[in-house]
Amino acid sequence: MGGGCLLAVFVLTLAAFRTGASAALDPRDVQAGQALFVRSCAACHGESGRGDGSSAAAFATRPADLTDGRLMNGLPDEFLRNVIENGGPAEGLAPTMPPFKALLSAAQVSQVITYVRSISQPPFREADHRSVTTVPNAPAQPIFFNHIVHASSFQIACQYCHAQARRGTAAGLPSVERCMGCHKIIGFQDNPEIAKIHDYARRGAPIPWIRVFKVPEFTYFSHKPHVRAGVACQTCHGPIERMRVVGAETGRTLGNDLMNLVGLKPPPPPLTMGWCIDCHRDQNRRGAQAPLECVTCHH
Ligand code: HEC
Ligand code: HEC
Ligand code: HEC
Ligand code: HEC
Ligand code: HEC
Ligand code: HEC
Repeated sequence: MGGGCLLAVFVLTLAAFRTGASAALDPRDVQAGQALFVRSCAACHGESGRGDGSSAAAFATRPADLTDGRLMNGLPDEFLRNVIENGGPAEGLAPTMPPFKALLSAAQVSQVITYVRSISQPPFREADHRSVTTVPNAPAQPIFFNHIVHASSFQIACQYCHAQARRGTAAGLPSVERCMGCHKIIGFQDNPEIAKIHDYARRGAPIPWIRVFKVPEFTYFSHKPHVRAGVACQTCHGPIERMRVVGAETGRTLGNDLMNLVGLKPPPPPLTMGWCIDCHRDQNRRGAQAPLECVTCHH
């Protein structure tokens, strides 16, 4: 893969990676962070960070095992900062994780994060750094469902939840029953966002998710040929696993118009016709048979 639109995605990814990167863990910060951790966090998360503090047993949702690199290394620094400063609900987690904004300075929170990174097994590597992607105008959903938690930390496969993507026109959203498969137990006692799932299930009502990505009625789009041709979800949707709230960046933008005006020919914004066509042309140069005829996309 490469060429016009894919190159743009690559450059964006690279830029996001750059801003997420920082220097290697400074031993002085690790030490200062450890002292703060023992004072402020160990009662719940345990001296060792394993989630076995003296008050841990009182919580239905266990304080997280902060040493578990399989879960922690996929979480951006910005996610950890948000949870520590503003409490669990800032990322959809349980309110039993309290906010520390009034107790720790921004610099102290950085030190705590550095310490938490240092106790991770498998170890947190420089390459694990990633950023949170915030898309302007992302809609507020009826349940605060966080892709960072599900797709990046717990690494649940996209198609486990969007199960129609390989064989259908629509990718599909998981049913309440599918959520309940995991959340019958996980989190419902002390996380109000998860309690809402139980509410919908009890009433037999679907969750009224607000639609984000959409092409106009007069256009035909199907997931199946794209997924089968090996086009990654992120190529079209952006880094969903780094979004706390999913949003679509699309439509004509002033920046895009201005660049066109001065002859820079920027790639067209996602979901516009130019975007579909650019990629089809590019793919066809590599031997694919992506349609360019009007009727294929406009019946
Ligand atoms: C009163 C108990 C309590 C204290 C004190 C506490 N936590 Fe927590 N923390 C929790 C609980 C409970 C959760 C799990 C929330 C959930 O999963 O819904 C949690 C979750 C977290 C998470 C999210 C991890 C993940 O897997 O998403 C981070 C990060 C965290 N805590 C860091 C800290 C740090 C750093 C401190 C000290 C500055 C701290 N906590 C103090 C109870 C506590
Ligand atoms: C394969 C298992 C699985 C499925 C399916 C699943 N979840 Fe989760 N979910 C988890 C785990 C694990 C956590 C993390 C629990 C914690 O640390 O507090 C979580 C956390 C959450 C949270 C709190 C953090 C956040 O994301 O805001 C919410 C809300 C949530 N899930 C909603 C849902 C909804 C709605 C569905 C269905 C569309 C769903 N989940 C499907 C496993 C799952
Ligand atoms: C645990 C289930 C779950 C997993 C895993 C999951 N999603 Fe989602 N996804 C949802 C739910 C629920 C929504 C609707 C709420 C929202 O928009 O956040 C959603 C929304 C979306 C949307 C926007 C749909 C619209 O309305 O246009 C896209 C795109 C998407 N997911 C892609 C992905 C990709 C890519 C991955 C893997 C990196 C992924 N999802 C992993 C459950 C999941
Ligand atoms: C070639 C670009 C492209 C790829 C690749 C792609 N999507 Fe989409 N996706 C779209 C477009 C365009 C829409 C809006 C479709 C519409 O309005 O009919 C959409 C809509 C969605 C929606 C909301 C409506 C629905 O179809 O259920 C979800 C969820 C979604 N995509 C998830 C995924 C996941 C998960 C993957 C990877 C397995 C993926 N998409 C791969 C372009 C793409
Ligand atoms: C690969 C798919 C694809 C092909 C091929 C395609 N279109 Fe489109 N077209 C779209 C999409 C997606 C939109 C809606 C997004 C937008 O307005 O840019 C659209 C929008 C349009 C619009 C509305 C534009 C507006 O500003 O509202 C017209 C008119 C149109 N197409 C005509 C054509 C004609 C004529 C052809 C053949 C020369 C063609 N399309 C080929 C995907 C396609
Ligand atoms: C990132 C690249 C990419 C983007 C963006 C993209 N496509 Fe495609 N499209 C492909 C590839 C690859 C194929 C499959 C070609 C093949 O099977 O050889 C394809 C095939 C198709 C087909 C043929 C389906 C069939 O059954 O044969 C349609 C229709 C289509 N795309 C519509 C769209 C529309 C509408 C959009 C924009 C909303 C779009 N595509 C955006 C890469 C893309």
